[in-house]
Amino acid sequence: MKVSIKTPEQIEKMRVAGRLAADVLEMIAPYVEPGISTGELDRICHDYMVNVQKVVPAPLNYKGFPKSICTSVNQVVCHGIPSEKKILKSGDIVNLDITVIADGWYGDTSKMFCVGKVAPHAERLIQVTQECLYKGIEMVKPGCRLGDIGHVIQQHAESNYYSVVREYCGHGIGDVFHEEPQVLHYGKPNTGMELKEGMTFTIEPMINAGKAGTKLLKDGWTVETRDKRLSAQWEHTLVVTADGVEVLTRRPDETF
Ligand code: MF3
Ligand code: CO
Ligand code: CO
Repeated sequence: MKVSIKTPEQIEKMRVAGRLAADVLEMIAPYVEPGISTGELDRICHDYMVNVQKVVPAPLNYKGFPKSICTSVNQVVCHGIPSEKKILKSGDIVNLDITVIADGWYGDTSKMFCVGKVAPHAERLIQVTQECLYKGIEMVKPGCRLGDIGHVIQQHAESNYYSVVREYCGHGIGDVFHEEPQVLHYGKPNTGMELKEGMTFTIEPMINAGKAGTKLLKDGWTVETRDKRLSAQWEHTLVVTADGVEVLTRRPDETF
């Protein structure tokens, strides 16, 4: 088990990457409206990352992924592939997951968007999932253990009668996309690795309205809920500081 501790200079590079990833989510927000295709959202983000930000979209060609962002609509849990054929309609919920490589360092963040007018039950799933992420973030400080993070997320999801996806998790991140440790979104207090200042990782809970089970589609990427009910996800990249946490992908509307 080798979890890297980043130096202040490396953390500064991740701060830049994190801010750029967050900026993409801010930039794309006004485009997420009924009638746009997920392929068009991908194209707008790709052009912004490459031509304006001068960063590399990390998903593109990552293990063969064909696009620059992930677009996961309704029952899609994660890794949805953008397509010209997938037109968003009022009532849809969609996760846009952005990962940039800036000067060799990664920033990874995602958020949910409501398309047009969305049912109250869907809005509630989105809100509780965001609360799961925020409760996980609040736990982070030196001495906290990974199981403590997983536990608060699982507790909040299940006390709202939702379920936590098990097959996918958060991850260490730095000058590679996915590194140790694995950050599970369920677990038991006082178990798992102890956090140390300078660790960098994501928390990215995937919470299902129905059962936890998932299914990988034949495209080799798209993950759906088995029961075809809704799924939501929010993600931030963070660094453990001397006395707590810094959220590297924080957006201006977020107060931590
Ligand atoms: N951004 C995703 C994560 O949070 C990973 C996407 S990999 C891709 O870890 F290939 F699907 F893009
Ligand atoms: Co991630
Ligand atoms: Co991501």
